[in-house]
Order: sequence, then C-alpha cells, then structure tokens
Amino acid sequence: MQRTCFNCDLNIKNVGEKVVLLGWASKRRNLGQLLFIDLRDRSGIIQVVVKDGTEIPDIRNEYVLQVYGTVAKKDVANKNLKTGEIEIIADKIIVVNKAKNPPLIIDDKTDALEDTRLKYRYLDLRRPVMQHYFDIRHQIKLTVHDYLSNLHFIEIETPVLCASSPEGAKEYLVPSRIHHGSFYALPQSPQMFKQLLMIGGFERYYQIARCFRDEDLRADRQPDFTQIDIETSFLDQNQFLNMMEGLVQKIFKNTIGYDVKLPLRQMKYKDAIDNYGSDKPDTRFDMMLHNIKKMMQKSSFEGFKSAEDIRGIKVENVADKTSRKVIDSLNLEAKKFSLNGVSVLKVDQNELQGSFVKFMDQDLINELVDEFKAKDNDIIIITSGAYNRVTSFLGAIRNQYAKQLNLIKPNTYDLLWVVDFPMFEKNVEDQKIVATHHPFTRPKDESIQYLDTNPLNVLSYAYDIVINGYEAGGGTLRIYDQDMQQKIFEILGLSDDEIKEKFGYFIEALKYGTPPHAGMAFGLDRLAMILGGTDNIRDVIAFPKNLAGVCPMSGAPTKVSQSQLDELGLIIKDYKETK
Ligand code: AMO
Repeated sequence: MQRTCFNCDLNIKNVGEKVVLLGWASKRRNLGQLLFIDLRDRSGIIQVVVKDGTEIPDIRNEYVLQVYGTVAKKDVANKNLKTGEIEIIADKIIVVNKAKNPPLIIDDKTDALEDTRLKYRYLDLRRPVMQHYFDIRHQIKLTVHDYLSNLHFIEIETPVLCASSPEGAKEYLVPSRIHHGSFYALPQSPQMFKQLLMIGGFERYYQIARCFRDEDLRADRQPDFTQIDIETSFLDQNQFLNMMEGLVQKIFKNTIGYDVKLPLRQMKYKDAIDNYGSDKPDTRFDMMLHNIKKMMQKSSFEGFKSAEDIRGIKVENVADKTSRKVIDSLNLEAKKFSLNGVSVLKVDQNELQGSFVKFMDQDLINELVDEFKAKDNDIIIITSGAYNRVTSFLGAIRNQYAKQLNLIKPNTYDLLWVVDFPMFEKNVEDQKIVATHHPFTRPKDESIQYLDTNPLNVLSYAYDIVINGYEAGGGTLRIYDQDMQQKIFEILGLSDDEIKEKFGYFIEALKYGTPPHAGMAFGLDRLAMILGGTDNIRDVIAFPKNLAGVCPMSGAPTKVSQSQLDELGLIIKDYKETK
C-alpha cells in the first residue's frame, strides 16, 4: 500500500507537500461545508479536512482509510496534538476496509469496563495511551540490550519446559504426552539455569525472560510476566549494584528523560520495616511509623503490658474528617491483619482526645504529642500486637492515607535499594521456615554463626530495588559452595532424598569450580508500569489475564477434549465451573 510517511512525521515545514497517509478514522465532525476526520496511525493523530465538492465515500469510526492530500497550516493550532499546527486538505479518500461499530471508546479516556477492554483488546490497544505504554516497554528493552551488551553481557535463552522445583509460588505444570504421569514445570524464573551459566563460564548473562507463577493476582502481578534477568561472576555486592544502577539510570533517561541521581541510597530491611512498615517503602512522603512501646507501656491500659510491639503513625490535618465510621473501618482493617484494633487520638485545640486518653496521665499525653510533633487537627493511630502484623498494618494504612490525601506529587520518582534481608522467614500458614528470597541466596558472613542455632536471625546478601513503593527488582549474591547449599536446603526442611531428587544436578554442578556470582531480576512489566505512569500492570501487557487469571478474549484457561486428555493419560477428578 502506498504511503509517503507516518502522520507525526509531518509538521509546519511540510506545508504545501502532497502526501499519502494510511490509518483509522478516529473521529469525524461534519460542519456542513467542511468535514473533519481525525486520522490515527501508529505515530498519532492528524486532522484531515474534506472541503465541499470533494467526492468521498461513506466513512465511519475505525474504517481503515488511505488519504491523498496536501499539508496545510491550520488557522488555530490544536495544542493537544503533535500535528496540531497542520492539517491535510483531502483530494481523495479510499476506504481500505470497513469496521463494525466498536464496543468501546477508542481514546485515551475510555469508560469501558476492564473486562470489555480485555475482551476487545485489539481495539483497546489502538488507544494512543496504550501505544505509549508499549513504546516505553520497547525502549526499556532496547536500553537493556544496548547497556548490557556494551558491558560484555550475552543474552542466552533458557528452557520454558523445566523440572519442577520449589521456589516460592506455585508452579504451572505441563503434562508430558510421552512420559505419562510426568510433568514439566514452567519456570518461576530462570534462577538455577543462570547460575549454571556462570558455572558454564559465561561470566555475564542476561535474558528478557518469560516467567510463570500461579499466585494470587494483584494490580502489580500477572501469572505470566517478564523479567530482565541478569547474572554476573566475580563482582561483589557494591560493584554489582553500581552496574545495575547505571542500567536503571539509562532506562529512566531513554524512556521519560528523567535524570536519576546516583548512587542510590541503601536502606536496611529492618529500618524499612521499623519505619515504613514495608520492605518496599514509598519514601516520597513521610508519615513514618514510631516505635512507642516503652512510652505506651507507661499507660494504665492492661492490653499494652505484654504487647510484643506498639507503634503509631500521625496523619496530619484529618481529625475533623475522622468520624466514628472512619475509626470503625480502621478497626476492621486492623482485624484483617489479625490485630485487635486501633486507638485513634485526635489533637483538638492542643488537647488530645479519644477514648484511649483515659489510660494516660498528662505527662504521657505530652510525651506522645511531642514524639509525633502532633498539631491541631492531626490524628495519631496506635496499634499493638506482633511486630510483623503491627508494622504491615501501619505500612498499609500509611499508603492508603497517602493516596487519599494526595500526598504524592505526580511524576516524581524515588529509587532506593533495600538491603540485608533476613535469609529465612516463617510461612504464615504453616509456620514452616522458608527462604525470604530463594534458597540460593548467600547468608552474610557475620550471620553464618546463627545458621544452626537461630536461623531466623541470619541476614543475607539480598537486595531489592524499590521505585515509588514498588518492588521493581530483586536479587542476591549466590552460594557457590556445595556444603553451604546443602545446609540451606536442610534448614528449609528438605530431606536428603528430596535434595537429591530436586537439586542433585545443581549441587553436583557446584562441585566443578563455581565462580562467586551475583544477580538480580527486574520486573519488566513493573518498570513499564512505573515509567508509563499507570498503576495497573495489565495496561503494559498486550494480552494479560484479569484478576481471576482468565483471558476474557480467548477464554484461557479452557477445557480440553477427551481425546487430548486420553493422549496425556489424564483423568479430571473434579470439573469445577469457575468462570
Ligand atoms: P523475584 O521473585 O524477586 O526474584 O522476582 C524479580 C522481580 O520480578 C517481578 N515479579 C513480578 N512481576 C509481575 N508479576 C509477578 N507475578 C511477579 N513476580 C515477580 C518483580 C520482582 O522484583 N530469580 C530471582 C531473581 C534473582 O535472585 O536473580 C527472582 O525471580 O519486579
């Protein structure tokens, strides 16, 4: 098909030129003597003017058009369009293809429900804002290839059909047709493969890798997602983090032109939890958690006497809006975190008010107001209980208030490393010890002494990069000693047989001259989301699943035929209608 250029290649310098354009009819306005058509292509929108007397066919929204015309200067520029200074005076328009009336508005703003957008994703993707997200995503990938290749990294693909291995989330399994009863697992990440590539002597590997995790979905999680997966040999933690910061700086510059100042600051995991109630703290606003255990145990409230932890946050200037209903919903939220509830204290004309005040004498009241530097119309939310629950609850409340009160300036970015994660944590459901990052993480040298006696006290060489409160990536220095690796598996409760069966090949590999190595993986989707300015990961994935893990367009996951099941040697015990 003939086309002289894309819409947005044209500007005021092209006035007078004859052009041929291709695209979709985005909007049409008939002003009697003149007909205006917004023509949309990959690059953007340009206005086409059909003057009275020019013969054109019937044109409706989303028809595919070929426009022959002349570039002209507009009398009044349209500042909202890249091509706003010019328009095309049409000589001839050909309808290349017709379109049904689209079921959603194809514009940056659309009122369609998300499931409608996902069902007609190919139309949703025509929206300029969506095209912008995918441009950003592409720019990130180009930067990754360029930056890492210049540093002698090499991209290597690793298998998608893998052996099952416990890594954290649940795996997706693929039944083998040839070996009935045996399954491949889809990779949660290429973790062991990239370590094996280090043993294989590549020294610097990366891969834009598809990963699969069968976990509960959220606004920033998808079951199949993409990592920028990286592994290096012979670098210590700071050398490695410097290299990765350089990559992030380039990505920010090349996508949105933002200058990230390096080096990024490092915050210890313990400080992040203590002060922000999260291992991915959004540090663009304060509202820090205060440890007020010692202070509040001076109150006469019996419930505080044996509390493991007592902490509070101050929310400024909301006392007048904090009704009984608001306090009830805070209590309800606290219950979701298995806490008893909250005490809310209001500052009203230099006096502290709230049902908890009766447990405090004047000295304690003064001390509390002083601690939070609380002013008129501020509130202090206090809760007590297990450290993990108290901090994660207040961390969540902190984020909610920041959103509600618009405390975060748009288009601001805050990047930091969270370091020194614990090596292990207790699984909430079954209280079993699990690896905080993964079992290949190296314990910190000074922590190794606690491995046998108090594993929960062991810190690790692990780091996450946190951007605007999102975990945008994470990684670790790896264990490169087979005895240490064996020991970590044992602490995680794996039997000798399980270790041999699941990780035997890996432990064997570690015996053949393994270099010290370190790596990390960035969430490509999360980076695209942050840089695109959306808080919905599905916006930056072409064909995502909805929150129920379903693709509303193709219907995946779908039932399969009896003959397919027979071929795989599978019997479905229990068909569930969940869609
Ligand atoms: P981790 O599990 O922290 O580390 O994952 C790395 C990054 O991948 C992104 N991510 C996700 N993005 C979207 N949907 C998901 N379900 C999802 N899960 C994770 C996050 C996260 O920071 N093998 C290790 C890395 C390493 O140690 O090198 C790993 O996978 O941005």
